[in-house]
Amino acid sequence: MSLRIKISLIMAALVVLVLVLFDGVIYFSQSRIIYKQERLRHATIAESLAQVAEESLLSGDDFSLISYTFKLKKNSALAAAYVFDGEKYLSHTDRELARIRVAAPQAFDAPDDETISKEITVGGRKYLVRTVFSKKAAMVEIQNARDRIFAEILKASLLVFLAGLAAAYFVALSVASPVLKLSRAAREVGKGNFSVEIKTSSSAGAGDEMEMLKREFNSMVARLRELDEMKSDFVASITHELKSPLSAVDSYADLLCGEFIRAHGKADAAMKPALDEWMMDIAYIRKNTKRLFDFINDLLDTAKMEHGAFEVKKTRVEMPELIAQVVQLFAVNAKKASVELKVEQSPVPPAALMADGERIKQVLSNLIANALKYTRSGGKITVSAKAMGGLRPEVLYEPAGTAGADSNYVLVCVEDTGAGIPAPDLGRIFGKFEQLKTAGRLVRGAKGVGLGLYIAESIIKAHGGNIWVESTEGEGSRFYFSLSAIIENKA
Ligand SMILES: Nc1ncnc2c1ncn2[C@@H]1O[C@H](COP(=O)(O)OP(=O)(O)OP(=O)(O)O)[C@@H](O)[C@H]1O
Ligand SMILES: [Mg+2]
Repeated sequence: MSLRIKISLIMAALVVLVLVLFDGVIYFSQSRIIYKQERLRHATIAESLAQVAEESLLSGDDFSLISYTFKLKKNSALAAAYVFDGEKYLSHTDRELARIRVAAPQAFDAPDDETISKEITVGGRKYLVRTVFSKKAAMVEIQNARDRIFAEILKASLLVFLAGLAAAYFVALSVASPVLKLSRAAREVGKGNFSVEIKTSSSAGAGDEMEMLKREFNSMVARLRELDEMKSDFVASITHELKSPLSAVDSYADLLCGEFIRAHGKADAAMKPALDEWMMDIAYIRKNTKRLFDFINDLLDTAKMEHGAFEVKKTRVEMPELIAQVVQLFAVNAKKASVELKVEQSPVPPAALMADGERIKQVLSNLIANALKYTRSGGKITVSAKAMGGLRPEVLYEPAGTAGADSNYVLVCVEDTGAGIPAPDLGRIFGKFEQLKTAGRLVRGAKGVGLGLYIAESIIKAHGGNIWVESTEGEGSRFYFSLSAIIENKA
């Protein structure tokens, strides 16, 4: 789950929690107020009836008392109200009972009722003023008022919740977007790109923790960049220094080899086995100096590529011939390893192209050498080249807009039935010094240093072409590169 969604959800949950607590407190306090108000209203009704009774008795206007008492019926919670002078009802909410003589006034002692009885004295005579409220009816009124308040609280809460959600989203966005930028930049640095820099909005020492983190990140990348440059310069100068003594060792080994061949011709039968053995030793020295040369050349190429000093010298190249030459170089090793190495002839022969033949050979050599390293005995390596008219073949693999629609391309493929490459690693094998863990994987011959594909990609990119891989772990890999065929199309 992304940080943005996580923060939004946490904040939304907080908003809901605060709303529920706040609404609960408001609802219960409002309910108590409503209940108290209802009780107060009952007391006021009883009080006002007593007052009206007193005034009517003093003025002798019993008619207004009767009509006032009758009107009290409008209160739905009022069950009954009357004024009793000891012999008869002076007034009653039930109009029929007004002025009716009774032995004793009605008593309302049901458990549900609330009776308020008052005694007033007018002209020395006592009168009973009684109001009776039905608790059930009062509760219905209270409940209706509570429901109205609940609906209002709910409406207000919904608005607050929506506003809270929007605020939560914006807060999450403002927290997550710099984190996202930092993680993207860190990924780039992880890939070896030390030119990334994150924009900071405040000067050194100012700003919040996030700004501080951005500044720290930038200075870390700057330091890494410095170290990378130092390392590249160091490697370049060391390898350069190594080259001269190694050339001397190689040329002296070459010289010795010549001497031994000549001596072999003149030597007697007793000396020949010893000379054979020495020649084998010399061959071993030469094989290893070649490996060292290859390594040094790879490091020097890498240094050139890093400093943008890598150049290609283009001449006319016939791809089928070039492929045949490179495949020929690996024929013996493939045979020794019992791996079938073959060139697949294309029904659409590739066009001639302008390219640096030696560099393209270097690319192809690395691809075939890799295939040989990771393919078990009995496996198969197939090299093919074909013309691709119209769209560039890697269009499918590239973002739209990078393809030239009206050029012809040569598509070269080195396919093996070897170890394959796990999907998550496909993106990184073209990086500098990137090698996959070899646990359980076959590596035939020298393990290498992980520069081959980096150099291959740089060479192909310098030609304006593209290189990519398709692979299924355990089944094999297909490395492709495409180059623009700008001279002619044989097809
Ligand atoms: N055909 C292949 N099958 C399986 N894995 C491969 C194949 N080609 C390359 N790889 C993986 O990609 C990594 C990088 O290849 P790359 O050619 O850059 O380096 P290398 O062959 O290990 O060393 P170098 O080429 O410098 O001698 C290899 O170490 C290997 O793990
Ligand atoms: Mg390699």
